[in-house]
Amino acid sequence: MLNKNQLAKYNQDHLYEYEKLMSTNEKEALEEKLATLDLEFINKLYQDLYVNKKTIDDVSSVTEVKYDIKERFTAEEITRLEQMGLNAIKDGQFAVLLMAGGQGTRLGYKGPKGSFEIEGTSLFELQARQLLKLQQQTGHTLEWFIMTSDINHEETLAYFEDHNYFGYDKEAIHFFMQDNIVALSEQGQLVLNEQGRIMETPNGNGGVFKSLQKSGNLDLIIDKQIKYIFLNNIDNVLVKVLDPLFAGFTVEYDRDITSKTIQPKPGESVGRLVNVDSKDTVLEYSELDTEVANQFNNANIGIHAFKVGFIKNAVERELPYHLAIKQLNQLDENFGVVKQPTLKFELFYFDIFKYATSFVTLQVPRAEEFSPLKNKEGKDSVETATEDLKRMKLI
Ligand code: UD1
Repeated sequence: MLNKNQLAKYNQDHLYEYEKLMSTNEKEALEEKLATLDLEFINKLYQDLYVNKKTIDDVSSVTEVKYDIKERFTAEEITRLEQMGLNAIKDGQFAVLLMAGGQGTRLGYKGPKGSFEIEGTSLFELQARQLLKLQQQTGHTLEWFIMTSDINHEETLAYFEDHNYFGYDKEAIHFFMQDNIVALSEQGQLVLNEQGRIMETPNGNGGVFKSLQKSGNLDLIIDKQIKYIFLNNIDNVLVKVLDPLFAGFTVEYDRDITSKTIQPKPGESVGRLVNVDSKDTVLEYSELDTEVANQFNNANIGIHAFKVGFIKNAVERELPYHLAIKQLNQLDENFGVVKQPTLKFELFYFDIFKYATSFVTLQVPRAEEFSPLKNKEGKDSVETATEDLKRMKLI
């Protein structure tokens, strides 16, 4: 039996009542799970992020990042950087890391977002094709690391297997799972999911580097003497996965973090890459006043190259959680399923930027490189993604 007083100390004594309604197996599972949780830490997250919520309001020290613009490069410059990039890829200096652990709730698609197909081509396939092309161009097979989460891990693996890994070398694809963290009600209480278990959700894409390490893949990267990790999101259908120009730009500057951006549209739901106290960082759209956001010229599109040496040093450092409130199905006190606003805690990968010391950014044309698939309809939807893929002759 759970200890009511102990639970009450952390505002979790509702679980005591829930337990009375549970079968022996359910009780055991609940008690086992609770024993692994740091209730004090969870309560502190609730207090810090919900009760005493802070928004980013002091932006007086925020300035534009230093950036180059691709369209200003001469044809000779582009050829030189591309050649440099291809040589570095051939030389084994890069690995590719795809973050694909997200839920894709806004798209209303149940499977892994990467398995979403547009006219028969999935987002995974669009990216795999580019790695195959680089293999043909350089003779080198890039190691491809793919982060999943427990909500889509098995399905992702099955999708790759069913599609014969899109013709890519299976041995060079490394799947690893990110961690979960508990979700809370608006009252700060743990909630039960539809299966009657304590609800947990993926801990945000900021878990990427720790999970890479925990899975042994960071060591693999270090052992292979790979110098840079190229990172990208799953949902940008026009993403150029480690295009030679960006690879060359990365090698030429050799910074801890190289980012690729586009010019944002006013009010657009994209993070803004900015500089605060000599460090580049991303101010996330969900935490930023629109007027402030509109003052900056570089939208984060989730494309970066990280120096492996930097990741190795920074991977153990602490990152802050951010709060998102989502409508999620859960059990009420009578064990009926209800949809309620639920607090999800997420780490953001770009919070690791604060531990870096050198940065550089390349701004590229949106029309060629950014078309995210986020929604079912309207902006950034299946319709816009399809149009853009056709326009760029990718499907
Ligand atoms: C993200 C960026 C935002 C940027 C926008 C561009 C973050 C926190 N924000 O916003 O600055 O302007 O992309 O499209 O990255 N993911 C996981 N595990 C998770 C959550 C997400 O792997 O727990 C992955 C997703 O699968 C996706 C990527 O991270 O590939 C971005 O996540 P998403 O939730 O789509 O972020 P956005 O709100 O679109």
